[in-house]
Amino acid sequence: MKQTYRQILGTPKPFVKWAGGKRQLIPILNENLPNTFGTYYEPFLGGGALLFHILTERNGQKCNISDLNSDLVLAYTTIRDRIDELISSLKNHERNYQKDSKSYYYSVRDTNPRSEIEKTSRLLFLNRTCFNGLYRVNSKGKFNVPLGKYTNPNIVNEENLRSVSDIFQSSRVSIKCRDFEAVLRDAKKGDLVYFDPPYQPVSQTANFTSYTNKNFTLDDLSRLSELCMKLDSKGCRVLLSNSDSKEVADMFAKKPWKVRKIQANRSINSNSKKRTGHFELLIKNY
Ligand SMILES: C[S@@+](CC[C@H](N)C(=O)[O-])C[C@H]1O[C@@H](n2cnc3c(N)ncnc32)[C@H](O)[C@@H]1O
Repeated sequence: MKQTYRQILGTPKPFVKWAGGKRQLIPILNENLPNTFGTYYEPFLGGGALLFHILTERNGQKCNISDLNSDLVLAYTTIRDRIDELISSLKNHERNYQKDSKSYYYSVRDTNPRSEIEKTSRLLFLNRTCFNGLYRVNSKGKFNVPLGKYTNPNIVNEENLRSVSDIFQSSRVSIKCRDFEAVLRDAKKGDLVYFDPPYQPVSQTANFTSYTNKNFTLDDLSRLSELCMKLDSKGCRVLLSNSDSKEVADMFAKKPWKVRKIQANRSINSNSKKRTGHFELLIKNY
């Protein structure tokens, strides 16, 4: 019998470092999942930490994932459909980076490739080599993070990319680029929707909302809270992460919402000394 990459290479993990990534919170998120559910929806996908956990723990689980960042969504489909070409393009980046990391990094940052392979390998290359390993764009949608200080960054990470490709090819996962509200059309009674939106800032200086060239505003948060009510009326299970901010607490103060404060580590502050433990909210209707 043909062995899958998962059996040979281990479990697939997020292939990008993403602001707000949930890897450290997987144990607590796992405790808060319902025992059974229909389709799993993750409409603010990012690095997809909970998605990968669910795919590896629940064999055959149907998943419907999406994000508004078209480069990120393209990376998921390219890894699924064109893994060999992608790996050879990344190896090319790795060779060039090893010759002159600084000038090569900025030359790649300045490019705007057209092909799917080049776009995705650029995103993965920049994510591995930029400062703090984060994706951030300016108001024109241009990636604007400077070079990071790494001696030997793992630019290709072939094992994990092949394992991710394998799990997407063999699972029932639909991947789309769209606004989160579109989930309402598709989700049915008994389905689980996990929302991990860009967080409401807890202070003026804590704002990090530039995953796309559109910020996530308070209006978006109101749209999200109305959507959660509509999903609840349809009989969906809703799980939501957000910052411990007054706006969020007020919007989810009433039934059917159960709000829990959980401890998390903030990892996107550029000053590592400020990446201390903080509380955030986990909200659910079941
Ligand atoms: C906090 S991150 C998700 C992190 C993810 N849970 C992880 O583990 O990496 C939020 C994501 O929402 C996406 N996003 C922002 N506005 C959106 C919108 N209106 N609709 C859908 N996705 C959106 C961003 O591109 C970003 O990837």
